[in-house]
Amino acid sequence: MNGISIGLLGLGTVGTGVIKIVEGHQEELMHQVGCPVTVGKVLVRSLDKKRDVEIDENKLTENPEEVIDNPNIDVVIEVMGGVKEAKAYIVRSLQNKKHVVTANKDLMALHGAELLKIAQENGCDLYYEASVAGGIPIIRSLSEGLASDRITKMMGIVNGTTNFILTKMSKQGSSYEDVLKEAQELGFAEADPTSDVEGLDAARKMAILATLGFSMNVKLEDVVVRGITTITQEDLHYCDQLGYTMKLIGLAHRSDGRVEVSVQPTLLPTEHPLAAVNDEFNAVYVYGEAVGETMFYGPGAGSLPTATAIVSDLVTVMKNMRLGVTGRNVIAPLYHKELKTDEE
Ligand code: NDP
Ligand code: HSE
Repeated sequence: MNGISIGLLGLGTVGTGVIKIVEGHQEELMHQVGCPVTVGKVLVRSLDKKRDVEIDENKLTENPEEVIDNPNIDVVIEVMGGVKEAKAYIVRSLQNKKHVVTANKDLMALHGAELLKIAQENGCDLYYEASVAGGIPIIRSLSEGLASDRITKMMGIVNGTTNFILTKMSKQGSSYEDVLKEAQELGFAEADPTSDVEGLDAARKMAILATLGFSMNVKLEDVVVRGITTITQEDLHYCDQLGYTMKLIGLAHRSDGRVEVSVQPTLLPTEHPLAAVNDEFNAVYVYGEAVGETMFYGPGAGSLPTATAIVSDLVTVMKNMRLGVTGRNVIAPLYHKELKTDEE
């Protein structure tokens, strides 16, 4: 390979981080994959918008075909969000034999199995590490590092925005409205933050984790969800006085042949390790029958942490291209048709 050209769908918080890492870490990328990576075309909604990263204006386009149908682009990175258009562009990219990396948990929680199948049929890679817990490599850990174990439980904080809100409300007495606005300005929140504060973003991530961890087809509608919109400063104050910390906890549990997945505000004793996970940080406990307890911790949202996961997926794709094994290393449980819906 003489070089790889990437196309981006989106240049917001995450897309900007991707450009910064790809351009700032050329030496590391060269070391990993032995060839330079260049940015070919970038889809945006508006060419007139001021960007937080230096980029040749000629690379920006409002026409998705200039990315997804572009014969010079090898890998498409979807960081635009939403479901309908993002799905159509990813499918077209895969049909055009382009590998895809995405950060889109809404899409992967709803259509992951279908998209992975299309990727495999077209001999292409589709990776989605950034879709859960930002910079924490939890998807790789479940599908590779812990693949031999029988996972019985996963529990954690998987939404940065709500953790940021609860932390600032309880520790600094900030108002819910002010701190939500701050989370939006920092780029942690979704385009429509309702999905963060109502717990839906965390539910999508827990559905992806449970599907991977339990090798079952856990659907979004199976997740019990409650968000943080009714939590007041007074509630948090009382929790503190009683020696508890409130966190939005995602829980996926299997026992006696049943799987339960939920996202809800939960009181944790102040000395509990998850009680000390603050701001936009995420943490996930994974319990495996053989390994016992493992904990993954790190930044769960934000431009560069999320982009790290994406560019690392890109490195994997490039290594697969070099070895000629693209489309084979599918992150399996999300794909298999014969997924069991309960333990048999
Ligand atoms: P932003 O809203 O900051 O950026 C979205 C980008 O996509 C913008 O550049 C926008 O163009 C472009 N875009 C959106 N819709 C269209 C469209 N229909 N046609 C053309 N361009 C479009 O989002 P984020 O960067 O925050 O998030 C991107 C994805 O990453 C989402 O799926 C999100 O859930 C996921 N994610 C985000 C994290 C975060 O911390 N922010 C962390 C992990 C995952 P324009 O700039 O012109 O408006
Ligand atoms: N809005 C999401 C969050 C972004 O706050 O966790 C990371 O997925």
